[in-house]
Amino acid sequence: ADFLAKMANGIADDLATTALLATDRPILVAPAMNSRMWANPATVRNLALLKASGVMAIGPAHGELAEGEIGIGRMAEPADIVDTIETALDGPLQGIRALITSGPTHEPIDPVRYITNRSSGKQGHAIAAACARLGASVTLISGPSSEADPPGVETVHVETARDMLEACLNELPVDVAICAAAVSDWRPAEAKAQKIKKNRRDGTTSPSLELVENPDILATIGMHGNNRPRLVIGFAAETDEIISYARAKLSAKGSDWILANDVAPHTGTFGGDDNKIHLIKRGAGGASDVEEWPHTSKTEVAAR
Ligand code: CTP
Repeated sequence: ADFLAKMANGIADDLATTALLATDRPILVAPAMNSRMWANPATVRNLALLKASGVMAIGPAHGELAEGEIGIGRMAEPADIVDTIETALDGPLQGIRALITSGPTHEPIDPVRYITNRSSGKQGHAIAAACARLGASVTLISGPSSEADPPGVETVHVETARDMLEACLNELPVDVAICAAAVSDWRPAEAKAQKIKKNRRDGTTSPSLELVENPDILATIGMHGNNRPRLVIGFAAETDEIISYARAKLSAKGSDWILANDVAPHTGTFGGDDNKIHLIKRGAGGASDVEEWPHTSKTEVAAR
């Protein structure tokens, strides 16, 4: 924490900080510290300052800490640090800032219930890891997912669509945005503060839910006035008429590319390890063309 604070403020009072102040090479930090030090607003601020000036970060990880507590603060695994260094030094996406959304969202009904969907976050997390491996500086905005935070990626955990939008807007400007999250299209108009009871005082037993539409994160980024990324990529999760629905999303959401995938139950796409992509690119004069990818793993799709 102390070292990050010095770096963030350009203090050079020992050999290491002096060398860092005098370099124009990429810098990667792998912080390790007590979990409360890590969460301290001063550390959060210092790390944000460093990232804004292009410093990359890996970790810390969650686990057992030197002082015997369990929490966030363990140094990233040495093998992950070495991987990150190797690609950060000469990856083709060096200098590119990428924003990626992944996973489902949870839209609360009351304190114990929510609306969600079958998204696992596997595809979005794989894309974040692939971008980081190629040297990009990656922020992943993740809805609730059991996927681990990818190494070398700054992961922000959110729950609702509105939180996801806010977290994304906080990251702009970026060079590329890839929206892989299965954002819930609707949320309950009102999230009840107390658990809704089966036998309610007004005598009715089955409540009806009024739903309102959530903000569209991809469309907001794709049509952003001042801070539209140079490349905006969305997905289209369809169960029928895949290409025509996906083409419509390309223009409706101001995207450059749409990766259309079939999420009908028999395909196993949602929650599974494989995917079949139809890549639709915005062409000249409003035209668009389709590129068929082979049925392959989500990791391979991410790399492509
Ligand atoms: N998306 C988003 N915010 C939303 C809804 C969707 O960012 N509120 C993004 C998804 O991340 C994806 C793309 O928009 O990149 C298309 O999502 P999809 O679920 O296929 O389409 P919808 O816009 O939700 O339309 P529909 O449900 O009618 O197919």
